[in-house]
Order: sequence, then C-alpha cells, then structure tokens
Amino acid sequence: MGNFLAGKVVAVTGAGRGIGRAVAIAAAAEGARVVVNDYGVSVDGSSPTSEVAEAVVKEIVATGGEAVAVADDVSTMAGGQRIVDVALSSYGRLDGVVCVAGILRERMLFNMTEEEWDSVVATHLKGTFTLFRAASAVMRKQRGGTLIGFTSGNHQGSVSQANYSAAKGGIISLVRSAALGLHKYGVTANAVAPVARTRMSAGVPMELAEIGEPEDVAALVVYLLSDRAREGGVTGQVYTIAGAKLAVWAQPRELRAAYAVGGWTPEAIAEFLPGAVGVDAMPMLAQVAAMEEAARGGARPNAQ
Ligand SMILES: NC(=O)c1ccc[n+]([C@@H]2O[C@H](COP(=O)([O-])OP(=O)(O)OC[C@H]3O[C@@H](n4cnc5c(N)ncnc54)[C@H](O)[C@@H]3O)[C@@H](O)[C@H]2O)c1
Repeated sequence: MGNFLAGKVVAVTGAGRGIGRAVAIAAAAEGARVVVNDYGVSVDGSSPTSEVAEAVVKEIVATGGEAVAVADDVSTMAGGQRIVDVALSSYGRLDGVVCVAGILRERMLFNMTEEEWDSVVATHLKGTFTLFRAASAVMRKQRGGTLIGFTSGNHQGSVSQANYSAAKGGIISLVRSAALGLHKYGVTANAVAPVARTRMSAGVPMELAEIGEPEDVAALVVYLLSDRAREGGVTGQVYTIAGAKLAVWAQPRELRAAYAVGGWTPEAIAEFLPGAVGVDAMPMLAQVAAMEEAARGGARPNAQ
C-alpha cells in the first residue's frame, strides 16, 4: 500500500466494474477509506443488483483496506445524497468524489427514443450533479475537497451516440462550473476522458489506436484526488489518459472575431463571415470520413 491518499475518504460511483472498480481499489491501496457505489446494471442500464458493489468492498477488505458499499442509483437525488451520508456516517468526512457510473443506449439521432435520451443523460449528467450537489455542500463547510467527473473524447460529437455525447459535454461544463463556484472554498473539480479496456469499450466498432487498462486511469484519478494536485492548483481541467498517453484538453475560447459598427445584417454577415471569421474545421468530421472510407475497403476502421 502507498500513502498518496492517507487519511482521505473517497466516494466512487460505478465502482463495481471497469474503471470505477480500478479507481476504488487504487484509492484504497493508497490509504483512502472508500465508499463503493454501483447500481449493478448491464451496459444499457437494466437489471440492477447490489452484489457488484459488495464484491468490490470484499476485494478491498481482503487486502487490508477499508470500504463500504452503496448500491443506489446515482441518477436520483436520494442516491447521490445517500452516498455522501454513508461516507459521513461511516468515516466522518468526505475528501473526494469520483463520478464514473455510466451506461450506453446507442441509436442514430433520427431513431432515438425519449427513453434512450433520458436514461443516458440521467445516468451520466444528472448522476454527476446528484453527487457533486450533495458532496459540495459538505466540502464547502470542510473548506476543501475534490470533485471528479468522467467525460469522453466523444464530447466532441458522436455519429450514433448523441445522448452520450451531449451528456459528456454537459459534464465538462458542470465540472468547470464547480471549479469556478467552489474555488474560494478550496474545492477543486476536474474531468477525466479515459480510453480503457472494459465491457463498455468492448462494443466500439473500430480499432482504437490509443487504449490502456482501467488501472492506468486509476493512477490519474489518485493523483487528482491527492494533495499534490490541489497544491499544484489543478482545477477546471480535462485530462485524457489512454495507456501510455496523458493529455490535457484546451479550454474553449473564441478563435476569431469581427465587429460591425451599428450591428450586423444577414447581408453583412454573408459578406464578412467567410473571410473575416470563417470556420474552425471539425476534426471528428474528417475522422468519420476516413473511417467510412476504410469500411468501404473492407478494413476494420481505425480511430484515435
Ligand atoms: N472504457 C472507456 O474506454 C471509456 C471511454 C470514454 C469514457 N468512459 C467513461 O468512463 C466511465 C466508466 O466506464 P467503464 O468503461 O468502466 O464502464 P463499465 O460498464 O465497465 O462500468 C460502469 C459501471 O457503472 C455502473 N452504473 C451504471 N448506471 C449506474 C447508476 N445509475 N448508478 C450507479 N452505478 C451505475 C454499472 O453498474 C457499471 O458497473 C463511464 O462514465 C464511461 O462513459 C469510458
């Protein structure tokens, strides 16, 4: 066991499998007491079971760590609150929350049902809000803490997962809002966009050029939860970790602007926009075109 997180109490959602499980185990190995939350559902969010969270608690306890299971659904306000309440009643404080829980309901936009949209946005985006909401109230009083959301490279857009992409984009804005609003209370907020071999990524219909294991992602999360990251002023950031690769995403910013004295008309915009303001080419559009080309040639398409 290391001591990167000695004395800390950390709650991890979706901690029964995949990346969340690796984060919970790594946090415990670094000295944290861990609330292991998992609703125990299939990739599409169905068939909940409490055994998945309990199994990870047993694994942690068997190696000498401390952990407690919560099998609630993070997409409910009561679920988010219960995770925080269990941290406080079991361990007396809460230093970090890591919102990893997620599901997929893949469908082209023109065929997507309301239920497919709502369930994905509820699990990812609302499921991050419910825990951030409950945890930030505690961390504000404590004058310290760390919030971590899970996004995806797909926040740039997705051909057949508009629900997932929109939720992941929302998580980045939620993280940045938390970073801004809680800065004065000593609370940091960051997002992780992982690429790792799990049951969720197993269904991706392309070769991923850069991919790693859940344990690689856990190493980044342990660092972000630690005093080393807080002392380094790391907040409002989005990091990708994909095996050997660790990358930071740019903050959104305006690229070019033009000004019109007396305001813009459609005619003036038609004249000035193409040259003076222009477009910022969409990298994902080029990538999708290359994948379609490869698929036409019979190859399994490559993607970043
Ligand atoms: N694996 C990747 O390459 C990859 C890439 C980009 C983003 N992500 C994101 O990383 C996170 C973890 O993904 P993973 O690959 O480990 O998936 P996974 O399917 O292995 O694990 C997700 C876990 O979340 C749990 N869960 C689902 N709904 C829940 C709910 N309402 N309440 C509590 N728990 C719930 C599931 O039971 C499951 O154990 C997700 O947010 C995913 O979108 C993963």
